[in-house]
Amino acid sequence: MPMQPWFSDAKLGIFIHYGIYAVDGWAESWSFYTGEVTHEQYMKQLDRFTASHYDPAAWAELFARVGAKYAVLTTKHHDGVTLWDTGHRNLDVVRDTPAGRDLVTGFVDALRERDLKVGLYYSHSDWNHPDYPSVRHVGPGEPASPFSHAEPGKEDPAAWERYLAYRDGQVGELVDRFRPDLLWFDGEWERTEEQWRMRELAELILAGNPDAILNARMLSHGDYATPEQGVPLQAPDGPWELCLTINDSWSYRPTDHDYKSVRRLVRYFTETIGMGGNLLLDVGPMEDGTIPAEQVERLEGLGAWISRHADAVYGTVAGLPPGHHYGPSTLSADRRTLYLTCFDVPREAVSIRGLRNAVRRVSVLGTGAELGHHVTGGLDAVPGVTWIDAPAAADLDEYATVLAVELDGELDLYRGTGRD
Ligand code: GLC
Repeated sequence: MPMQPWFSDAKLGIFIHYGIYAVDGWAESWSFYTGEVTHEQYMKQLDRFTASHYDPAAWAELFARVGAKYAVLTTKHHDGVTLWDTGHRNLDVVRDTPAGRDLVTGFVDALRERDLKVGLYYSHSDWNHPDYPSVRHVGPGEPASPFSHAEPGKEDPAAWERYLAYRDGQVGELVDRFRPDLLWFDGEWERTEEQWRMRELAELILAGNPDAILNARMLSHGDYATPEQGVPLQAPDGPWELCLTINDSWSYRPTDHDYKSVRRLVRYFTETIGMGGNLLLDVGPMEDGTIPAEQVERLEGLGAWISRHADAVYGTVAGLPPGHHYGPSTLSADRRTLYLTCFDVPREAVSIRGLRNAVRRVSVLGTGAELGHHVTGGLDAVPGVTWIDAPAAADLDEYATVLAVELDGELDLYRGTGRD
């Protein structure tokens, strides 16, 4: 079944790591797994998770305003605490925290209200479920935390069956109750595809909703690749999405001030969409549900850039391969307009090499200023260099300037070595 087209057209999604870990601001789930805090300390956060200012309508308004087309919420991270009112109980915010209510329904409704696609994150692994550490991952050198793996000789296949029934029950609920457009799995590395029964899980999801998109952490049943924290040098095959933290943390960590600047986010974003991917930019709300001001400011900065350059973002496909232009680019769906991104102030000219098309018109996106252009050189089949006059200072964008290059037909590139 081909993947739903909305995904590749979306360009920007917002990832939200929200859970009890925001109470004391320790790393989501990992902090007790790695021993940064004791398990007891970590679990005490349950008593203080209130979601007292949780306002999913405000989140959705913000996400829509900054140009995102979907959002993905951690409905259960590796700590196993679900944010919805699950009938397959172990730990959930409804019964085990003062929040006392389901947080997923409001999120799903608020996104749909704004025409945003609904993504639900779910961790296959669960470091708090008594039946989870009942098997071992095959393979040498694997970590053997008591939270995730049975001691050698202490494997309990019946417990593992119970765990799978629990996971399938929860995922089935997510599919039936919320009909997510996207299920974003995680935690897959602790078992093999066979141990996870991925095929059966994929069948269960698709029987409930054949249009659901699955990320690559469903292993061979994933629809798209999920590079994490670094822009790939070559686009992965097929659809893909870069997930990226806004500072260095997935969840709310008041001690982490290493925020990416708006200019840097614009770089990540344009480099990602220029290679045909989506950016899934992560925020970490505080325990009360408020997204910290530093994060909101950055989302708004990126969003303002996107709205000034919407033509270069939505309805585009990957642009020029490296070597033709010094910077990322996108191409209109009809392949007749190239959008060149310039991070630095262009000196004298911006060049395009290997362009066989004649250029009809070049303008600065946003201001509309028209720029002169001409071609020099070229011999027989080898095109010359297309030179575009550098924009005036007043036409430069604070973060990245985009030039719209209208071609005389569909993009036609020369990719040779210079003699033929
Ligand atoms: C890693 C981490 C996890 C985080 C995820 C986001 O898999 O285990 O904490 O949620 O990356 O992609």
